[in-house]
Amino acid sequence: MGAPVFAAAISIALLAASASGDFLVGLGSYDVTGPAADVNMMGYADPSQNAAGIHLRLRARSFIVAESGADGRRVAFVNVDSCMGSQAITLKVLSKLKDRRYGDTYSEKNVIISGIHTHSGPGGYLQYVLYIVTSIGFVKQSFNALVDGIFSSIVQAHENLRPGSILLNEGELLDANINRSPSAYLNNPVEERKRYKYNVDKNMVLLKFLDSKRAPIGAFSWFPVHCTSMNRTNELISGDNKGAAAHFMEAWFDKQLEQEDPTIEMLGKPGWTMNASVTIRNRRRLVGDSSSPFIAAFSQSNEGDVSPNTLGAFCADSTVACEFNHSTCDGRNEQCIGRGPGYPDHFASTKIIAQKQLQKAIELFRSAKEQVVGRVNYKQTFVDFTRLKVTLTAANGTTSTVTTCPAAVGFSFAAGTTDGPGAFDFTQGDTKGNAFWRIVRAALKTPNKAQVDCQYPKPILIDTGEMTFPYDWAPSVLPIQISQIGQLIILSVPAEFSTMAGRRLRDAVKETLIAKGRGQFGPKTRVVIAGLSNDYSQYVTTFEEYQIQRYEGASTLFGPHTLSGYLQEFRKLAIALAENSNVDSGPSPPDLLDKQLELLPPVVMDTTPVGVDFGDAKNNVKRGASYRPGDVVEVVFWTGCPRNDLLTEKSFSSVEIEQSDGSWRSLYDDNDWSVRFLWRRPSSLSSRSYATIRWEIPQEVKAGTYRISHFGASKSLFGSVRPFSGSSNSFQVKL
Ligand SMILES: *[C@@H]1O[C@H](CO)[C@@H](O)[C@H](O)[C@H]1NC(C)=O
Ligand SMILES: *[C@@H]1O[C@H](CO)[C@@H](O)[C@H](O)[C@H]1NC(C)=O
Ligand SMILES: *[C@@H]1O[C@H](CO)[C@@H](O)[C@H](O)[C@H]1NC(C)=O
Ligand SMILES: *[C@@H]1O[C@H](CO)[C@@H](O)[C@H](O)[C@H]1NC(C)=O
Repeated sequence: MGAPVFAAAISIALLAASASGDFLVGLGSYDVTGPAADVNMMGYADPSQNAAGIHLRLRARSFIVAESGADGRRVAFVNVDSCMGSQAITLKVLSKLKDRRYGDTYSEKNVIISGIHTHSGPGGYLQYVLYIVTSIGFVKQSFNALVDGIFSSIVQAHENLRPGSILLNEGELLDANINRSPSAYLNNPVEERKRYKYNVDKNMVLLKFLDSKRAPIGAFSWFPVHCTSMNRTNELISGDNKGAAAHFMEAWFDKQLEQEDPTIEMLGKPGWTMNASVTIRNRRRLVGDSSSPFIAAFSQSNEGDVSPNTLGAFCADSTVACEFNHSTCDGRNEQCIGRGPGYPDHFASTKIIAQKQLQKAIELFRSAKEQVVGRVNYKQTFVDFTRLKVTLTAANGTTSTVTTCPAAVGFSFAAGTTDGPGAFDFTQGDTKGNAFWRIVRAALKTPNKAQVDCQYPKPILIDTGEMTFPYDWAPSVLPIQISQIGQLIILSVPAEFSTMAGRRLRDAVKETLIAKGRGQFGPKTRVVIAGLSNDYSQYVTTFEEYQIQRYEGASTLFGPHTLSGYLQEFRKLAIALAENSNVDSGPSPPDLLDKQLELLPPVVMDTTPVGVDFGDAKNNVKRGASYRPGDVVEVVFWTGCPRNDLLTEKSFSSVEIEQSDGSWRSLYDDNDWSVRFLWRRPSSLSSRSYATIRWEIPQEVKAGTYRISHFGASKSLFGSVRPFSGSSNSFQVKL
């Protein structure tokens, strides 16, 4: 059905108001994996952490909710398996949506692009200099993969828009997150801390989307925890704990649909754990629905000081806890490392934190009853945070005015965190001859007295807000946005809010809505923070946490009153939402796309030894060999660089079972926990490369004859790129 016909059908069929809980809902999902070789990963800012294969493909998952009726307002929310949102990406996605036939339907006002904060995805897609130093500049391939995938997932959601309804649920998830800077948290006023049982937020909020026959079509949840379960030695692309949870939940749902499966009754029950194998992406079509698979997304929230490394931080391999106030061992930060619940195996830690989120989401999904009712609305503006005047009101009612400052990062920024200590080591970067760093180091600036005073007590390491060579090092104009879907209020922030900063923001907005909303808002109003949305500006701590200058305080860019600035500006948006009044658009953020420098060398060419073709097995499995669940099968293929063809919405790996007619059917691929694709060159300048496909045979595997296949593309000296594939010998899997 074409869009205009579809739209007309909707407006005729649906004149019901959203007061009855009827909305138009649409979901979409698209691959954003990007280049799986050579590109520095975004997050730890470790120059040696470059992509070299895939554990789990990355996706952009979107929902659109619209008021039913001809010109009902709508909100589009995109949960993307990237480290963060990016202004450059937002601008590009919006312009592509405009160029399609959507006109003004989608704009910066009603689109939210929120990163899950995985530290295991290819980087180079932010437009400000500081965030592309370790990726030696901009990486167009990463950028394009994200733009195209986000765009495609929104288009899918748009095309899928149909009558439906939404349920909301929330609940506590314990044991999946801890505070990694408790000494800063402790500097918050004691009366304020007393209001909370924990020093991180434990609440998960979930939306369950239903079609008009009340069949579930998807679920999106918010819960704060860094996606740093995979540590900075990881080179396989992964969505970390949230990306894995999403694959698991989609597989769980698909599996549940297979009525003949005897384990269905167990799924989601307390004590149940997702085994690796349940992730067969045999996407079932929903009964009564034409095209869309079930989509599950796990979104980020106020995770600024929140770690998934729940065992705590210890000195190297010892059982000695790090020094509490500074996270050091013998006065140094490098040896102080956080441990996940699967320590020392970070895959195990990732899986455990993913499963905890998955189980809570399934529980909330199953028990969801509260209907989402009310209007869809949104208010958005851009704020220049460099010299924002902020009026503070003391408890006794007296007011004072303070200002924010141009961006700067403090010394503790270079120390990193217990999730990735000492990550940003500029001196090391320099001696290693990072070409991008050499170009930009001339820009290093000594901050003047006004800036030093404004940022006090932060000792300024890099005065990013006042550095503009070769272009801006840090953002100054940032988007802030409130979206309403009935009783759910989503606050999109372009930053990582600490636990307490997030609580203050949620409270300020809720109080304002209730005070100004003339009964529209009340105790049922839920406010969630969508972190890392639309742009990125590092951290936001409370004024009190800022005084302690841990990593999060040192990375709070606009000075001690950054949070107060957000509270003031969000209150204005909340008033506008409550009164449905217009909001000034504010200054425009710059579009720096044309200025980007890209220094990552392209793939020159791929070769194989004489007599060997791309896709031939280098190390094969023994023909007819027999394996059992729990065994690992590994095959090494001669391959080309994965950057030649990203195989978007396809796969580099495939584990196939032989059918009765002799044909092969793929059961597991790049999207499955049990399969890893590892890529490497024998030496950094070699034109040869190997793909290792590693399959850990899951417990629930089907017995049969299997083979492992690899897909790729090779580049010739003259630049032409040719696809190839190859398969291993066949082998037996017995139970
Ligand atoms: C997962 O595997 C374990 C054995 O490793 C088994 O006991 C359990 O039943 C499996 N779970 C499911 C859901 O199949
Ligand atoms: C941490 O610092 C605070 C404030 O300076 C101090 O009171 C406390 O004793 C320190 N804690 C430890 C464990 O050193
Ligand atoms: C990272 O994880 C790997 C694999 O689980 C482990 O061997 C390594 O010690 C960890 N490194 C750090 C710095 O935590
Ligand atoms: C009100 O509180 C502020 C900050 O705590 C203080 O500086 C000021 O003196 C107080 N003013 C009055 C009139 O009590």
